[in-house]
Amino acid sequence: MTSAGLPIIGNATEVFVYPDSHIRTLASSCAACHGSNGNSAGITPTLAGLEPGYFSAQMLAFKDGSRPATVMHHHAKGLNADEINQLATYFSQQKRVANTAPTPQKLKVGHDN
Ligand code: HEC
Repeated sequence: MTSAGLPIIGNATEVFVYPDSHIRTLASSCAACHGSNGNSAGITPTLAGLEPGYFSAQMLAFKDGSRPATVMHHHAKGLNADEINQLATYFSQQKRVANTAPTPQKLKVGHDN
């Protein structure tokens, strides 16, 4: 059962626990759009500090197509339920920081301000 010699937590259903390095590698692939540690600097939603149950539910909804998406259905389909649950825990533990993107300035006509 533990072909890679990794721990299995047995319960009603078996859960495969991936090593942290695997989850961090997966999470770094999300950073391109969702920002460092899940803190988005743009319009892509911030993942840092999301409630794990909400995170997993969204990922499963992207996976089965019940939540329409522009790109996330592709990313979700490549992950299994155990990876999604561990990513949910990982991102819930990341500190949410204020958006550091520069805010647009309002300039008066004539640029006299
Ligand atoms: C190519 C850019 C891109 C990448 C890479 C990406 N995402 Fe997303 N993500 C989005 C966009 C855009 C949305 C908004 C839904 C949509 O249009 O697909 C989103 C939405 C989400 C949401 C829903 C957030 C909410 O508040 O409802 C979750 C959860 C999520 N992404 C997780 C991930 C994870 C985990 C990864 C890495 C495995 C990842 N994303 C990689 C662009 C990306």
